[in-house]
Amino acid sequence: MSRLDLFVNRITAQRDILNLIAARRLLPETGAILEVGLGNGRTYSHLVDSFAGRRIVVFDRAVASHGTSTPPEADLILGEISETGAAYAKGDAAMVHADIGTGYPEKDAKIQAWCRNLRSIC
Ligand SMILES: C[S@@+](CC[C@H](N)C(=O)[O-])C[C@H]1O[C@@H](n2cnc3c(N)ncnc32)[C@H](O)[C@@H]1O
Repeated sequence: MSRLDLFVNRITAQRDILNLIAARRLLPETGAILEVGLGNGRTYSHLVDSFAGRRIVVFDRAVASHGTSTPPEADLILGEISETGAAYAKGDAAMVHADIGTGYPEKDAKIQAWCRNLRSIC
């Protein structure tokens, strides 16, 4: 499979899952959504549209998002997620969405391992 196909699959899966969660109202009534990996802000923009009124707290190393998709400063937590996620851990998140894969299976296996610890945030 080409890397373009892999990219399209990843992005499509993200959107389909988020749309399903929104359409079926699967989130708890309260709690922030945590977006791990702001990047260009495309997924953040979709979260804002899909979960209107919900606080979305965003983690990344630095801000590199499009101007229309940059969270307010109060909702931005910058630094390495392995450190900032643990420091944030409030136990009140409704959902964690993470898009921080590298495309290298051995690196992504390590990321997935500690991503499971993000459950402690919820
Ligand atoms: C693929 S991009 C996210 C794209 C985003 N979903 C979008 O729609 O534009 C991944 C982002 O995660 C951030 N990232 C990756 N590993 C990280 C880590 N360990 N800690 C904090 N941010 C990280 C990168 O800086 C990058 O901006």
